Amino acid sequence: MQDRILFSAPDSLTEDIDSLLSSVEYDNLFVITDTNTLPLCFERISSCKAFIAARHITIGCGDENKNLETLANIWKNLSGRGATRKSLVVNVGGGMVTDIGGFAASTFKRGVRFVNIPTTLLAMVDASTGGKTGINFLGLKNEIGVFNRPLATVISPAFLSTLPEKEFYSGYAEMIKHSLLASESDWAELISIDEPYSMKDDFLPFIEKSVNVKCRVTEEDPFEKGLRKALNLAHTVGHAFESFAMQNGNPVPHGFAVAWGLVCELFLSTVKKEFPIEKMRQTAAYIKEHFGTFGIECKDYDALYNLMLHDKKNTQNGVNFTLLSDIGQPELDNYISKEEINEALDFYREGL
Ligand code: GLY
Repeated sequence: MQDRILFSAPDSLTEDIDSLLSSVEYDNLFVITDTNTLPLCFERISSCKAFIAARHITIGCGDENKNLETLANIWKNLSGRGATRKSLVVNVGGGMVTDIGGFAASTFKRGVRFVNIPTTLLAMVDASTGGKTGINFLGLKNEIGVFNRPLATVISPAFLSTLPEKEFYSGYAEMIKHSLLASESDWAELISIDEPYSMKDDFLPFIEKSVNVKCRVTEEDPFEKGLRKALNLAHTVGHAFESFAMQNGNPVPHGFAVAWGLVCELFLSTVKKEFPIEKMRQTAAYIKEHFGTFGIECKDYDALYNLMLHDKKNTQNGVNFTLLSDIGQPELDNYISKEEINEALDFYREGL
């Protein structure tokens, strides 16, 4: 099954949304936003005819609200304000809104259709397509959820001007990862852009390429039995960095942790899979310049390893990594020893 994606230039965004929604039959339309995206992003599309009679559900922003309480609040609103199986939910926001809104819709009355309108670069190139929905539970990210694709996803750079620079780069890291899974020309194109943030208004062609990489992979393997694990490149170490920073009261944006994790995992790719050293060094240098570095010391290695042991991809064989033997050539299910992981962390600390 394929994602239905509408890539929309800023000038035609409201017309494109109207023409999409007029092709769908529904009784009531519910718009889910958060307290950030309601004033900053929904405002940009509020003149759409389809939204005149919309019922609004606005949730608290930030990943800490992607929880059972917020979910129950969405269900209560849907239930109390007349949602039926013929209703349509439109999620307008970052990955937090598309994840929880998609899950609320997928479970309400055993499934109400939903449309995603992602407003962050990260949600455009990752969360809003591929059908993963869910919430955090018992301190674990995305612990409860279902695979269920949106009816359609509308992607437009119109919202990028609402993003702080750091949030933009957070999405750019996932784009670099997608380019490494795709082709040398995609990768070379992205790492030759000196100031991607200053080009954000012209970003649609780059976004389109990146989304298409994700869609090709998730179409082939929707339920992450095999190839979809390729999308986890950089995330084994990246998630450990992200959780470690959070536990130390110093949270970092997801994409920054992914960028730093990518450096470690490309190092492992050179050692275990003969990934070309020069391409690893070029990527690492670009990441250092645009994302800075994550401060770790040897005494942190055990804690980082323990966090990696909790990764969802693992089996009883140990910590599972997606690596690359070259650009465009993912190698799945590599079990890497603690000593080798420590070497990658040493390289990260000293080798850059
Ligand atoms: N974020 C990776 C995936 O959707 O599989």
